[in-house]
Amino acid sequence: MRIAVLSEADPAEPRVAAVPETVKKFKALGAEVVVQSGAGLKAGVPDAEYEAAGASIVPSAEAAAGEADLVLKVRRPGAEELGNFKKGAAVVAIMDPYGREAELKAMADAGISSFAMELMPRITRAQVMDVLSSQANLAGYRAVVDGAAEYGRAMPMMMTAAGTVPAARVFVMGVGVAGLQAIATARRMGAVVTATDVRPATKEQVESLGAKFVAVEDDEFKQAETAGGYAKEMSAEYQKKQAELVATHIAKQDIVITTALIPGRPAPKLVSEDMVAAMKPGSVLIDLAVERGGNVAGAKAGEVVTTDKGVKIVGHLNVPGRLAATASSLYARNLFAFVETLIDKEAKALAIKWDDELVKATNLTRDGDVVHASFQPKAA
Ligand code: NAI
Repeated sequence: MRIAVLSEADPAEPRVAAVPETVKKFKALGAEVVVQSGAGLKAGVPDAEYEAAGASIVPSAEAAAGEADLVLKVRRPGAEELGNFKKGAAVVAIMDPYGREAELKAMADAGISSFAMELMPRITRAQVMDVLSSQANLAGYRAVVDGAAEYGRAMPMMMTAAGTVPAARVFVMGVGVAGLQAIATARRMGAVVTATDVRPATKEQVESLGAKFVAVEDDEFKQAETAGGYAKEMSAEYQKKQAELVATHIAKQDIVITTALIPGRPAPKLVSEDMVAAMKPGSVLIDLAVERGGNVAGAKAGEVVTTDKGVKIVGHLNVPGRLAATASSLYARNLFAFVETLIDKEAKALAIKWDDELVKATNLTRDGDVVHASFQPKAA
């Protein structure tokens, strides 16, 4: 059984899908591990460390993937990479499958069995494989670090001989995995933190982290959580009430971090142009939802915009990638936990159980077809 670890073709992706620790674990399961030279460099892992863990280093993606039964990647392989894989090889990555019919078909045509880690069900058994959580947690942390770096003042209250510096006010909008970590990080840095969400369950979580909860708590709010634990899209009426509350609150904030997402929908617009205009000069907005359309009016993907009133709107892409080493080691462990379930430990061979619920939930293509129920090609 040969496992290949490839460099990411996208120059904006610094993460890597395996680290020496997981290479050792794959070796212990009887696998031969081949790493494309330089794959870990941007995440702080030189070839020599993979070699020391028992991997062989090869010069190209073709040489790494050509004979591999299983290929580990961070992102979906592009058209130019698909020719490198052997027919029937399993490829595991973050596949970003929504609205990508042509790309899924290309993977099917290449004959690979592709698995999308982000479709892993959020059940207890699969928690250790949850890449959405492992990466969102780091994004929440990094959002606060980026916010602090862009903010021209100190975060904690300081009493000095030259006078007192007030604590920064941080407002977190959307309290999922990223938002909770943002609250905890901002608190540790000494900020006065408030937070909002449309799911009632978050109120207690916010308060348990020592922050204050701010939200329109009407009847609609009480039913805003789906059975799966996600947010619903709120009515126009609720959004209006929410906007009024947010408008008065946001004008007093120094750093605002937005993380609000609704599965399968564009990100909700939470901060309008008028709200941005009402903020103090020097205040900072960090929009973690920018890749999904953004929560903040005027946020630009991949840019830091400064408004004419001196408010900064930060729209960094791939925020977990801004902590490439940590993000890679957590992602690599998520991958190992899943891949381990695909291996027959006696036979030391890949033995995918196609009826396992984790396999069914994540498998996009197999034997030339797109097989996932959510991504069936539309009938002509
Ligand atoms: P997400 O990334 O889909 O959304 C982020 C947050 O934005 C959510 O808290 C959502 O309620 C909020 N939001 C949506 N619309 C909003 C609006 N209009 N205004 C304010 N906030 C809004 O969420 P994430 O981080 O994936 O978490 C979703 C759920 O999954 C949570 O209940 C979390 O506890 C749960 N979860 C469960 C896991 C498990 O293994 N059982 C693992 C990780 C998360």
